[in-house]
Parts: sequence; structure tokens; C-alpha cells
Amino acid sequence: MINEYLIQDAKLLSRLVPKGVDLIVSSPPYFDMKDYGAPGQIGFGQSWEKYLEDMRQVFAECAAVISDTGSMWLIVDTLKRKGAQLLLPFHLVEVASEAGWRLQETIIWKKDRTLPFSTKGEMRNIFEYVLFLTKGDKFKCYPDRVRSYDFKHWWVKYPERYSVSGKAPTDVWEFPIPVQGSWGNEYVRHFCPLPEGLVMRIIDLCSDPKDLVLDPFAGSGAVLAAAYRSDRRFIGLDLNPDYKAMFDNYMPTLMKREEDAEVVETAKVVASTIRKLRLLKLPSALLKALRRDSPDFLTAIDGVEIKMLDEPCAGRHSLWRAEYVFYLREDLGVDFLDQVYGRLKKAPLSKYGIEAQVRVECRPFEPAQTAWYYKWDATYLAPSRDPDGSSPRLTAPFSFDPKEEKLLRRYR
Ligand SMILES: C[S@@+](CC[C@H](N)C(=O)[O-])C[C@H]1O[C@@H](n2cnc3c(N)ncnc32)[C@H](O)[C@@H]1O
Repeated sequence: MINEYLIQDAKLLSRLVPKGVDLIVSSPPYFDMKDYGAPGQIGFGQSWEKYLEDMRQVFAECAAVISDTGSMWLIVDTLKRKGAQLLLPFHLVEVASEAGWRLQETIIWKKDRTLPFSTKGEMRNIFEYVLFLTKGDKFKCYPDRVRSYDFKHWWVKYPERYSVSGKAPTDVWEFPIPVQGSWGNEYVRHFCPLPEGLVMRIIDLCSDPKDLVLDPFAGSGAVLAAAYRSDRRFIGLDLNPDYKAMFDNYMPTLMKREEDAEVVETAKVVASTIRKLRLLKLPSALLKALRRDSPDFLTAIDGVEIKMLDEPCAGRHSLWRAEYVFYLREDLGVDFLDQVYGRLKKAPLSKYGIEAQVRVECRPFEPAQTAWYYKWDATYLAPSRDPDGSSPRLTAPFSFDPKEEKLLRRYR
């Protein structure tokens, strides 16, 4: 069974859906908030106890069909009942755990758009909860696919603290609510369609192409559409045939999703820039540390040449191998090398991802390339001239290309 929207009761889903579902993404009915106009619907007209009992049953059905590597994501909001806030997401986690699920993470979905007013005792509501649940600990999760590049200026000064693959996702996600009627080419008339970007982030994070995605409360079919566009298979269930008719209508207009060329390019430029910044900063930071150990060392150092080594790294956390050649005005003996390696082995220099090999040459530094003058306070800059002619100079077998320069300029 592939790509189906069934008019069926979610409480019976294990009879209809094959075992081995890879990912469940759903926004269940928020207790009795809305009438979805279908007999047998969960939530509307039910008592609180009956609602939780039905939701427990749906979660048990979901647990029965999910694969060992699968996960279930729920998008839920709180609501007000009898003058008090009802923490619906927390109650649903409780019944889901009774049905065999474990909560892995709670994410805040910042919606940005809301009604311009609020009622007494309430603020304007601009967030909902996204709950990430699994049955076991073998679940798929690929945070590298959803990294971001919205760095603060710190990354230029501290490139060793930023991953070459961007920033790991946080637990606050910002996606505007879709405007009804502006989704795809077709009019979408549903109370709460989910934003495509939010669903796609979950799909990227926890599934692979061709995997099977299930939404037991499919509504307008936002999850099914995002799954289809992301090259996944899908099954959706709902009781309201109008929603299915609407989905059937716009489904043929859906296009497969294309890789965002700008994001791919940014990722490449960020990775290469961080690599160069780290390779340049390591000897700069080393010189700074050596100055603290003994000012005499520094006066004896004429320059440092960075050479890239092609051999594979030995350490699991190392990314690159480099040789740093120290040109000394006078022989500093073995003590100097011991001091250098001692520093390199310790944090923070050991955290740069660089396997550094150090060589000493007792002769003046005659750089073949333009020298980068070491600055105490801005190790990442390559000034065009040495301010007083006394700082050790650095050379590297690379410079920043125009795209990297442009990126760096944004943060200087
Ligand atoms: C919060 S809405 C889902 C919205 C959906 N995520 C979207 O993007 O449009 C909940 C949906 O659950 C459906 N529903 C309620 N009880 C159901 C049941 N027992 N089985 C299947 N669907 C049900 C409703 O018809 C409604 O469309």
C-alpha cells in the first residue's frame, strides 16, 4: 500500500496500515476545541476521560505499526477549560507513555502569527508544542540534515566552537502558520493546516527517502503532501470525506521538492571558512599561550608556516592534518617542542579538530606566500602589514576566496 488517504477511524489503524511505518507526524484533535463535522470523531462532544481513553487507543495502534527505528511526532497546544489552563500536551504524553511511547524531546513551535488580542489571564498565543516520541532507542535521527547557519558574530573569533556543518537545531522552531488559501495552487479550507517547513524538518530529521510516513489525523493532508514532496510514501486517515476530497484535488499539483541551492552553497562556504579560520587560529592561539609560558620563546620565533598534510587523521574527532613549521631566530632546544606539544594536547587547542605536527627550523623565515601577521586580539584577521615588525608572521597555503571573504565581511 503506497500513498493513500483513507476515510477510516484512527482507533482502528493497525487493521488498515501495514507494520513497519517509519515515521508518524500528526496534530490530533485538541480535546473538544473544534467540531470537525464527522460522526465518531475524537474530541468534540466527548468527556475528558473518554477523549484520553480514545487517544490512548490511537497511540497504542500507532505503537503496533511503527518500526523499531521509527518515531512519532505530535503537534499540540494547550487550551483553557473552566477558567484554568489545561496542559494538553503533557496529558497526551502521559497516555502515550501508557501506550508504550517514550518522550525524547519537547520543542516549542513559534508560530509568529496569531490573533491581535487576548482574553483575561491569557497572553497572545504564539507557540505550540512539538513532542518527539519513540518506542525504543534505535530511532533514526539525523540532526546534520537540519543544521542552520544563522551564526552570531562570535563564530569568526571562535571558529573552534562552531561545527563545520553548521549549528545543531535548537528546541525552538520558527515557522509561520500557513495562510489558508495560499497553499500550493489550491484553496485549503481546514481549521489548522500545519506549515510545510515544520513537517519537512521532522521528515528530514527522522526518516529516509522511500520511508513510510503516517498521519492518523490527516485533515487537509499537510503531512501527506510534505511526505510526498520529500520522496517518502504516505498513509493518512481522517473521518471527514470533505478533507480527503480537498486533498485529492490539490495532490496532482504537488511537485517533488528540490534541494535548496542557496542552503547547499552556504553550507559549503561556511564549512570551508571555518576550516581555514581554525587552521589559522591554532598557531595564533599557540603563540599566545607560549607567550604566557615564557615571553622569551616568542621573541625567538620569526614565523610559522602552515602546511596541509594529505594523510588521513588518526583520531576519531580530528578533521584535518597539518604541519606547523616554526622558524626560530635562536635554538630553543627540546624544551620548546615539549612546551608546544604540551599545549597542543590540552584544551582548548586539542579541540580544534586539527592533528598538528610541529617542526622547528633554526633560520630566518623567508615566506614564499604573503605573510599573515599575528595579532594578539584578532587571530582571524590577515592584515596587510606588520604594525611594528616584531610579531611572528604566519603563512598558509590558502587564502579566503571571494565568497568566504563576503561571508566574513558580514561579521566583521
Ligand atoms: C487538528 S486536525 C488535523 C489537522 C491536520 N494536521 C492538518 O494539517 O490539516 C484533527 C483532525 O482529526 C480528524 N479526526 C477526528 N477524529 C478522528 C478519528 N477518530 N479518526 C480519524 N481522524 C479523526 C478531524 O477530522 C481533523 O481533521
